[in-house]
Amino acid sequence: MRKKIVAGNWKMNNNKRETADLIQSLKSLSFSSEVRVMIAPAFTHLVQVEEMTQGSRLEVAAQNMNAAESGAFTGEVSASMLQSIGVKKVILGHSERRAYFNESDASLKDKVATALSYDMEIIFCFGEELAQRKDNTHFDVVKSQLSAALFELSPSAWSKIILAYEPVWAIGTGETASPEQAQEMHAYIRALIAEQYDQTLADAVSILYGGSVKPANASAIFSQTDVDGGLIGGAALKADDFSAIVQSA
Ligand code: PGA
Repeated sequence: MRKKIVAGNWKMNNNKRETADLIQSLKSLSFSSEVRVMIAPAFTHLVQVEEMTQGSRLEVAAQNMNAAESGAFTGEVSASMLQSIGVKKVILGHSERRAYFNESDASLKDKVATALSYDMEIIFCFGEELAQRKDNTHFDVVKSQLSAALFELSPSAWSKIILAYEPVWAIGTGETASPEQAQEMHAYIRALIAEQYDQTLADAVSILYGGSVKPANASAIFSQTDVDGGLIGGAALKADDFSAIVQSA
């Protein structure tokens, strides 16, 4: 059975003190053994959060990394640097990275390969923009994002992949995909994976939904058959909201 996963993407928020306060509150959260909870703070706070969460069930993820091993890439962070501080998970392909930092399916394919070579778990984000949903091309867009970056992976590599469907029109906008829209897309994604690999592999992959998940809508979305939890932005910055979302999983 797939475990539910609730991951908080803090984006470029929280200074050192705010990070300590939020992690301190989250550490007292008790949640089902069927749920995994992940926190993705900024690079500057990864060491702090990694240390603070030792011995707890909170898992720590980076929000990005570079595909290269090392070298002249000013401002970037490598997989080996993350590994050296104990971070074993990374979010790749977030729509903000794609939109503001020119990340393409091809560059993401390279990042995925590097992360896997370091045995890291990857939360791979993808999803259509509003115009694409209006044009009814959202299924094609998702198919091409997934096939370009992931469909050449070996079947065994998929044990390290967590998918996060995040329709761009729902991120930070307060507009959420309806539970039915989320389920429809997640079922489509699982069918694509079954077609490309097999049903057993497709059934084992966790597919998270992201985009304006709040305490009020989390259970309706998470209770859909093919929705295995969520990637949470804004609501992950408030301990009470994030805790309520975790309890809904
Ligand atoms: P949001 O962000 O919950 O603030 O919409 C989700 C995300 O960007 O992962």
